[in-house]
Amino acid sequence: MLKFSSKVEKCELSPVRKFNPCAAEAKAKGRRIFHLNIGQPDVITPSVFFEAVSSFHAPVLEYAPAPGMPELLEAIKDYFAKIDIKVGTDEMLITTGGGEALDMVMACILDDDDELLVPEPFYANYNTFARVTGGKIRPIPTRAEDGYRYADRSIIEPLINEHTRGIMITNPGNPTGVVLTDEEMRIMVDIAKEHDLFLIGDEVYREYAYDRPAKSLLTFEDAAENIIVLDSVSKRFSACGARIGAVITHNKEFLRQALKLCQGRLCSPTLEQVGSAALYRAATPEYYAGVREEYRRRRDTVVEAFSKIPGAKFRSPDGAFYLMVTLPVDDTEELQYFLLNEFEDNGDTVMYAPGCGFYADSSMGRNEIRVAYVKECDYLVRAIELLGKGIAAYNAKKK
Ligand SMILES: Cc1ncc(COP(=O)(O)O)c(C=O)c1O
Repeated sequence: MLKFSSKVEKCELSPVRKFNPCAAEAKAKGRRIFHLNIGQPDVITPSVFFEAVSSFHAPVLEYAPAPGMPELLEAIKDYFAKIDIKVGTDEMLITTGGGEALDMVMACILDDDDELLVPEPFYANYNTFARVTGGKIRPIPTRAEDGYRYADRSIIEPLINEHTRGIMITNPGNPTGVVLTDEEMRIMVDIAKEHDLFLIGDEVYREYAYDRPAKSLLTFEDAAENIIVLDSVSKRFSACGARIGAVITHNKEFLRQALKLCQGRLCSPTLEQVGSAALYRAATPEYYAGVREEYRRRRDTVVEAFSKIPGAKFRSPDGAFYLMVTLPVDDTEELQYFLLNEFEDNGDTVMYAPGCGFYADSSMGRNEIRVAYVKECDYLVRAIELLGKGIAAYNAKKK
């Protein structure tokens, strides 16, 4: 019999996409599906992206340099300079999305049985990238009641053992919306330094912090060797399909190791790098503020809409564009199948990402969901109304 690796066997489908076949069947039956499951914003991609791509002319569409095209590296360097962070173009590697940046970082630092500490619930794909290395995520448990805060030595230090290689923080957080204070970041940096651990900052939502700016880990110069930051154009410029991300670090040895992986995959797409360089160059503080205000409006809309669902519990997010909600049901995966296969309201139904996929152990989060608030307010209101009606119908059926 053909055999698959035990590493890939341990991976699971993404909670965001695993219901797609079922959704396709519902659509074929004529259902309109409201999507709260995927962080695919409807915010318009700045036109400079398309203009730069269409004015690119070359006799041959060649490979780009493995670490990235100089014009994109320069543009990212200047982006960081504007937020008072000094990084050289030789301290970054361009990747095919933040996803590949994550994949590379985990491949560089995790071996069989190694552990990466991650505040839980966490971005579901961390599980996949850790498991294919043979390593695993050791969760730092957090609770909505405590605002999902985790920068606490008494919680983190007992989780560190001889297998621990690093700590991953998502700031602002997906799926919890937590944004670290400067003091909390200092605690995380000190723990990483004292225990000789990598501190990986997934900062793909950096601009989307509603009350105060989210600081980059790169500002902590005293831990330059420990810190690795991940970046992406997907959310910052609403350019998810561009598939351009970056790894940024002052750690020269890390860059030397990761370059092997960059060269192995040859390069990230040339045209997408050209377009992304234009995005970084054109974006102004007004652009970020405008998009942030739009997400704040959407955040306020979903918070109000969920407060009308009896028994729904959640914490209003401070950043990114997601929230975790505990629903008054036994199993949100089962509810999702019900919503797609059996439920409709005027031909409409709704999708979300079941919460269990955001935990290291999928027996957790069974009554939670993750919601992405990336569409117009009217759309979000209708989607949450459908969810409320769907929950009532599901619970009535189970009685
Ligand atoms: C926390 C986090 N990290 C990384 C990514 C990967 O983004 P991309 O591969 O589109 O750059 C996402 C996407 O949703 C995310 O939410």
